[in-house]
Amino acid sequence: MNNYEKRINLVKNYLDRIDFGNEIIKYYEGRSILVTGGAGAIGSNLIIALSLLVGDKGRVVVLDNLSAIKQKDPWNVTPLSNILFVLGDVRNDVDLKRVFKENPSIVFHLAAFFANQNSVDYPEISAEVDVIGQIKLLEYARLAKIDRFVYASSGCAIYGSYPKLPLKEDFISMHLTTPYQINKMTGEMYCNFYHHHYDLPTVNCRFFNSYGPGEVPGQYRNVIPNFIYWSMQGKPLPITGTGEETRDFTFVLDLVQGLIKAGYYKEAIGENFNLARGREVSIKELVESVLKATGNKAGIVYKERRKWDTKPRLLASIEKAESLVHYKPIVDFEEGFQANIVWFQDNWDKINALADFPPGMSSAVR
Ligand SMILES: NC(=O)c1ccc[n+]([C@@H]2O[C@H](COP(=O)([O-])OP(=O)(O)OC[C@H]3O[C@@H](n4cnc5c(N)ncnc54)[C@H](O)[C@@H]3O)[C@@H](O)[C@H]2O)c1
Repeated sequence: MNNYEKRINLVKNYLDRIDFGNEIIKYYEGRSILVTGGAGAIGSNLIIALSLLVGDKGRVVVLDNLSAIKQKDPWNVTPLSNILFVLGDVRNDVDLKRVFKENPSIVFHLAAFFANQNSVDYPEISAEVDVIGQIKLLEYARLAKIDRFVYASSGCAIYGSYPKLPLKEDFISMHLTTPYQINKMTGEMYCNFYHHHYDLPTVNCRFFNSYGPGEVPGQYRNVIPNFIYWSMQGKPLPITGTGEETRDFTFVLDLVQGLIKAGYYKEAIGENFNLARGREVSIKELVESVLKATGNKAGIVYKERRKWDTKPRLLASIEKAESLVHYKPIVDFEEGFQANIVWFQDNWDKINALADFPPGMSSAVR
């Protein structure tokens, strides 16, 4: 079995464990669906699931400029016959016209200038992609009279500093600490505006700390792929803080489940809700899992907490998603982490060759 077949199998097996019911299967069958950012960590999993759901008569159109992996080979996009990859930018009208020619009836908007530190370093590009790009997309979506616009928002972004746990949707904070967080909040507000003013059926899904197959390491990437990458090279793992910090790590296919349901249930329209595992894992626990799985004896180095990182703990309430769209995460950290390691090992040559760290930053210890 090649790496693409393994990935399709993982998604198939996951979907088999979810009882979507005939209504959802029928709803997706034969549709044309646009996924922006479909070559990314979450999008590359979503497009496989959608490809299976829309079937031979449907089509999944991916719009991605591949900026996250800074190269022109969409290797993270599984080559399935009903997936159309369009190399393009959400800010570019020519590219948007191209993808809307495929008459999508649902848009999953996942493209973003990822993430916190990147936006601190490049605040203007971050706003151009995340805000202007999204407004353009919403305009095309409303003119095309689509059935659903599902927006990838962020729980870590929206809830700001020092909120009460577990994080619930009715908590609003103005204390956001990076341009990325501000953009994600703005993105939700624009969805709400297009819903209220034009009746565009928008949904804001607030993801929490995704991990799993499809996410590559890099200067601006998440902690899990970077830890695995460094650990596979026998390097010590840097903890920026005490290690007691927690995150609500969510297996990427659980997020995919939530997105598929957000694209279907009418109750989701005009709403915002968390998609998370609903459990805390400490950074120390994560480090131990990574060191053990990779047989790395190099240990830990402690570093200063980043100024914008004001959340010692993250834990989401998933009650709203459960009641609105019957969201039910099923993958525990141990199982998801194992799948993540296997994908890393299988794709190591590609990942290692493409890991996007500037010179001097490819090591955990600087
Ligand atoms: N990964 C997480 O833990 C997490 C948490 C909360 C929210 N989110 C949100 O979910 C979405 C997907 O996250 P991800 O982890 O898959 O990120 P990612 O960076 O892996 O994927 C985003 C994709 O968008 C593409 N892209 C960037 N700018 C673009 C542009 N101008 N035009 C077209 N494509 C562009 C990138 O090339 C990339 O493939 C993002 O909107 C992110 O903000 C992610």
